[in-house]
Amino acid sequence: MAIQLIRGFKDVLPPEAAVWQRIESTARRLFENFGFAEIRIPVMERTELFARSIGEATDIVEKEMYTFADRKGGRLTLRPEATASVVRAYIQHRLYATEPVRKFYTIGPMFRRERPQKGRYRQFYQINVEVFGIASALIDAQLILLLVTLLERLSVKDVHAHVNTLGCPACRPQFRKALAGYLSPRTAGLCSDCRRRSVKNPLRVLDCKVPACREAMTGAPALLDYLCADCRQHFEVFKSALAELGISYRIDPRLVRGLDYYTRTTFEIQTGALGAQSAVAGGGRYDGLVEALGGPAVPATGFAIGLDRLAELAAGVQGDIGAGPDVFIAVLGAEHRQLAFEWVCALGLAGVRAEMEYGTRSLKSQMKRADRLGAANVLMVGENELQKGAAVLRNMQTREQTEIPISELVARVKTCIGGNADRP
Ligand code: HAM
Repeated sequence: MAIQLIRGFKDVLPPEAAVWQRIESTARRLFENFGFAEIRIPVMERTELFARSIGEATDIVEKEMYTFADRKGGRLTLRPEATASVVRAYIQHRLYATEPVRKFYTIGPMFRRERPQKGRYRQFYQINVEVFGIASALIDAQLILLLVTLLERLSVKDVHAHVNTLGCPACRPQFRKALAGYLSPRTAGLCSDCRRRSVKNPLRVLDCKVPACREAMTGAPALLDYLCADCRQHFEVFKSALAELGISYRIDPRLVRGLDYYTRTTFEIQTGALGAQSAVAGGGRYDGLVEALGGPAVPATGFAIGLDRLAELAAGVQGDIGAGPDVFIAVLGAEHRQLAFEWVCALGLAGVRAEMEYGTRSLKSQMKRADRLGAANVLMVGENELQKGAAVLRNMQTREQTEIPISELVARVKTCIGGNADRP
């Protein structure tokens, strides 16, 4: 039997891949306009990096990582997210030393061994954005602006920004204690995951989707009531900046996120259009992570968009690569194939998308193929044309035919196809 791809992994085929390209290029343009520079990081890191940053008691670290022993004995993990690696690179290359504020974006695959379903894969892609060195909540609001703008530019509708604050090491422990106290007489009614979490990571019980757990949490203490003055102030600045930017949002006190490094602001962009996997993007502030991983005390904030999910939402977006050729060269007689080939290459190098017939087919079937490919024009090369020193270019839409002198073929074809001539 032919070998199939791994469960939870997927191929992105054309023309869908062109939609992905369009999303990526729209994101790159937007982020670069806001001063973000691309950073590329490896897909594999030492396991310890993820355990220490995402947190030992998270679902990701406990049960979703692809981890294996290296031949030399070290433990390596396929990255389940990018933030930890960006922080590692930031510290390792002392990127803080030259400039106090650094803004990065990175695009690539992540790996989590979750139960696959629509919108949830074991290899998925993220567009990540990370900012280092800005403690102000204004930048958190700017991140939401970037997310909302990107979705708007991709014509994605029905999206909502959910925001919350998780406090900081000064105020969260009191809340955690109150929550654990609230949970301890109720553990019997929780799902098995939450029974475990209620001891190790009680905050995660807040966002469990199991109805019994939701029910049990109705009277739970709210973190908003436990915030210290600085966290409260941070959240106020964040909310008023969002209002100033005209961004509507919902405060969602249960939005605790699945990674332990967050402090203060957290947010998700959710949609009803993706079934159970409602989060298109998520992020927040992680002011303690750089220091926890051995760097200086630098505040940081960021988000990641799920590219697979975004591509499903942006199905209406047209990718521009993958459209039909500008010119299909129909070869009348095998002896002219070499010449057609030279033209295809010369046209391609000049930025004209050209395709040709490499086999021996009738003119009729070549015309059908040109049609199927969506070719805008067909250039016919046969004995008659060559004798006249001119080939015939037919516009497939208007049926108009133009004689093109062979001596200046590339330049004349470029003129005839007009707008596409400057592509390279
Ligand atoms: P996250 O919420 O775990 O955050 O993932 C961000 C986004 O990645 C999700 O909203 C979702 O769209 C997508 N995603 C996650 N898991 C899957 C999956 N199994 N299949 C398909 N899509 C998925 C983070 O990863 C943080 N590192 C975000 C961040 C950056 N926070 C600060 N900076």
